[in-house]
Amino acid sequence: MLIGKIKLIHTLGVRCHSSHYVTTPIFYVNAAPHIGHLYSAVIADAHCRYQCLRYPDQTVRLCTGTDEHGTKIQQAAAAHKVNVGQYCDEISARYRDVFKAAGIAHDDFIRTTEQRHKQAVAHFWQTLQSRGHIYSAAYSGWYCVSDETFLTDSQLRVDEQSGARYSLESGHPVEWTEETNYMFRLSQFQDDVRHWVKQEARIRPAKFEKILLDTLSEPLPDVSVSRPSNRVHWAIPVPNDDSQTVYVWLDALINYLTSVGYPHEQYVANWPPAQQVIGKDILKFHGIYWPAFLMAVGLAPPQQLYVHSHWTVDGQKMSKSKHNVVDPVQAAEQYTMEGLRYFLLREGVAHSDGNFSHVKALRILNSELADTLGNLLSRACAKSLNPQQMYPAPHAEHLSELLQQVDAAQRLQESMLQLAARCEQHYECNHFHLVADTVIATLHAANNFFECAKPWELKAGASAANAPRLETIIALTMDALRHCGIVLQPMIPQLAGRLLDKLQVPGSQRSWSVLNESVPVSSRALDAQSSALLFQRIVEQRDDKPAKQQTESKRSKSKRQKQEQKAASSST
Ligand code: MSP
Repeated sequence: MLIGKIKLIHTLGVRCHSSHYVTTPIFYVNAAPHIGHLYSAVIADAHCRYQCLRYPDQTVRLCTGTDEHGTKIQQAAAAHKVNVGQYCDEISARYRDVFKAAGIAHDDFIRTTEQRHKQAVAHFWQTLQSRGHIYSAAYSGWYCVSDETFLTDSQLRVDEQSGARYSLESGHPVEWTEETNYMFRLSQFQDDVRHWVKQEARIRPAKFEKILLDTLSEPLPDVSVSRPSNRVHWAIPVPNDDSQTVYVWLDALINYLTSVGYPHEQYVANWPPAQQVIGKDILKFHGIYWPAFLMAVGLAPPQQLYVHSHWTVDGQKMSKSKHNVVDPVQAAEQYTMEGLRYFLLREGVAHSDGNFSHVKALRILNSELADTLGNLLSRACAKSLNPQQMYPAPHAEHLSELLQQVDAAQRLQESMLQLAARCEQHYECNHFHLVADTVIATLHAANNFFECAKPWELKAGASAANAPRLETIIALTMDALRHCGIVLQPMIPQLAGRLLDKLQVPGSQRSWSVLNESVPVSSRALDAQSSALLFQRIVEQRDDKPAKQQTESKRSKSKRQKQEQKAASSST
């Protein structure tokens, strides 16, 4: 009875250990990475970084990698006249490089061509077979190489003129295929998969749960889990049958197990995954096939599938034929990698497609990272106001005076008091755009406070009597920057790190719990080695060259300085 219950708990994916295992999809190596791929990885990375920050006692593990078998890869290598193994090495390395540049802190980067993975697939296959879930059958149907899947008639669109058939969902062409395959008894798992999908917070956002339940409301056909080796040779052989290779999606899905050491016992410490991040186009594979495969071998399916929508570019689907594929490396030359990360997380929402436009990227990065965050740090650290380059402690009597006299000080304090709880709520749901909204609102309040408190007037007075008030204004401003820096670490780890470095915040004081502490920081020197220039405005160049990050133009810098000097002198 108890064993039955434990088994049920295990099968439904109820976690009873403290490991938090997160995965990204593994990326096809048929083409170079684009921003859509990076988006899957950035979501997973920001999620993991938040988990580490918020739950420091928990073990967090992030796995990503490349999906390297199948016809699609075979064909891509042939088209480039490169040996397929070498082709996989080259493209896989590009993913690794992009992820490194983008600060994706993965614990494992798996490649399906690795020996450890071949062993895991063979073991998984043998378990499926020994449990009677696989049978051999003559199979015929429409195969879509781009999507690496068989499709039923109802999933196709027929071009009236040419008679050619295409996948309704992806638009990719299909070809008629007749062959002997091994089949998996998917139909037997229909009820269990439906039950799993319906568990609270299993599929997020909820609209994707509905899509799965719609699919599950029709009888599920069994699926082919192998292809003849003479058709698909770049794949893992079926154990004890060299005439067949393992279907690439079964091969690919098992990577999540390989990464944690399956079939060796150690994998149980990380199983099941707490969250698997996927794009909407691979929902069927992860939301139906994957839990069914796992249940069939007696393993728990994942705790949660987090499904994101796609990026379009200027309203168009990204595609090589439209020449509109956004390369993250090139985009980072304009926006910086941290800027790109911020834009993707700030502008993307999981439930609907996002539009990548240069104009929008420029507007958001300039107004939020440069003008709102970066500018406030520069102003608070300016030598004219802060000649001793200090992060001062506030003076209690001046703090209460400011809070009583300056409305903007009160609004800033309120905003800061709510910051942690609000952002926590948003991070828990991967609502990064709302985290950014909340942080930017606090930074607006801080900028507004700085303007209203007019610290330059106190400086211009230069009397010792003004010093405590001036220090209190700077302290409050730097506190706001410090809190926002702590909150932003999962989204823009390098920029947030530089901000906290400048403010001399030690590593032990960068955790989430610090946000709820009301103890004021003690006075300290700013870090002279770190620049106060956090994010330079991106200036659109007049000729058709791409926009580049530039230092504040001489003209606007002198204009700003004049304004501050004027304000300073008018108060004397
Ligand atoms: N290899 C499979 C996944 C196997 S996982 C066991 C695959 N690879 S992929 O390279 O085509 O896609 C990887 C991820 O990138 C998917 O989550 C997919 O949704 C995502 N994206 C691909 N194009 C995208 C956009 N235009 N926008 C956002 N994400 C996109 O599928």
